[in-house]
Amino acid sequence: EKGGYDYFMLKEIAEQPKAVADTLLGRIDPSGSLTLDEVRITPSELREVDKVVIVACGTAFHAGLIAKYAIEHWTRIPCEVELASEFRYRDPILDSRSLVIAISQSGETMDTLMALRHAREQGSKVLAICNTNGSTIPRESDAVLYTHAGPEVAVASTKAFLTQLVACYLVALYLGQVRGTKWGDEIGAVIRDLSKISCEVERVLETMEPVRELARSLADKDTVLFLGRHVGYPVALEGALKLKELAYMHAEGFAAGELKHGPIALIEEDVPVVVVVPSPRGRSVLHDKIVSNIQEIRARGARTIVIAEEGDEAVAPYADHLIRIPATPTLLQPLVATVPLQVFACELATARGNEVDQPRNLAKSVTVE
Ligand code: M6R
Repeated sequence: EKGGYDYFMLKEIAEQPKAVADTLLGRIDPSGSLTLDEVRITPSELREVDKVVIVACGTAFHAGLIAKYAIEHWTRIPCEVELASEFRYRDPILDSRSLVIAISQSGETMDTLMALRHAREQGSKVLAICNTNGSTIPRESDAVLYTHAGPEVAVASTKAFLTQLVACYLVALYLGQVRGTKWGDEIGAVIRDLSKISCEVERVLETMEPVRELARSLADKDTVLFLGRHVGYPVALEGALKLKELAYMHAEGFAAGELKHGPIALIEEDVPVVVVVPSPRGRSVLHDKIVSNIQEIRARGARTIVIAEEGDEAVAPYADHLIRIPATPTLLQPLVATVPLQVFACELATARGNEVDQPRNLAKSVTVE
């Protein structure tokens, strides 16, 4: 049932191109616009929305953090993202014009369920993004957009994450389409880019051997740091979470701009630091800033592991290890940038002799608060 792979996680990482394509299937019509018929919240209700609030836990929370950039950029609707376990305890401001999006692979996470119940009690509409048909979270929501990742067995979430991102982009673009934004042209172009992304994920998977080799060489390290900016920041958080849960190593993700506000003190000789570099094309100011971050940490002895677009030559002189990813529009980069981090964590866990599919102390779905 592992399809010839040693672990479910490896199988699920390999299934990502298909999972991404399946999640898009039937949702883009031939004219290139979106038809999310399953989202049973009417266009006029969606036009009334004045705030989006995303609630989720763990990896699904990281998908939500990325969704915020897309939603705010394409729709200009303010969007908050909150850990589901914190949400209802702070008496959040919600009403009938708030759209709450609950993201969950299993559809059974108690923290997320309690958050959505709280939102509905306040009169808000809840849209679930979920991978498990008929599970509790979609059943209790007003609408659901299913991710079509197929069953995810490994405790560490991989293909579910990529499909959650796709679903979030679809919702963001759909909201933009329904409400009409100044980004009308951009929306059409992004929908076309999204339909090509499955092939890009496939291309990343074909180039992962050096990443595995690098992971094995770091098996005796105590700590790995991750830096990112813009949508690369949640990718850094996700890379760190994967490493914690699988390799049982200390791992932390930082916003690269925060380095000088504290974390740079952690940099010492030979500490591995993974840096997710934004595209040099889109927001090139951020690209330049992160290049100087890489220089700064390298000058302090860090071992720099740089994830950068093909053709980005500016980073090469400062990268001890360079991991190439295909060029994508800025907001879609997490779909390709996360994959090497999944492979990295999986291989490190294997090298350290850990149980990859069933990490200690963890359960696949957390049904208690
Ligand atoms: O089933 P859910 O998506 O609601 O689960 C949320 C988290 O428990 C989950 O993403 C967890 O963080 C994963 N083990 C991370 O790989």
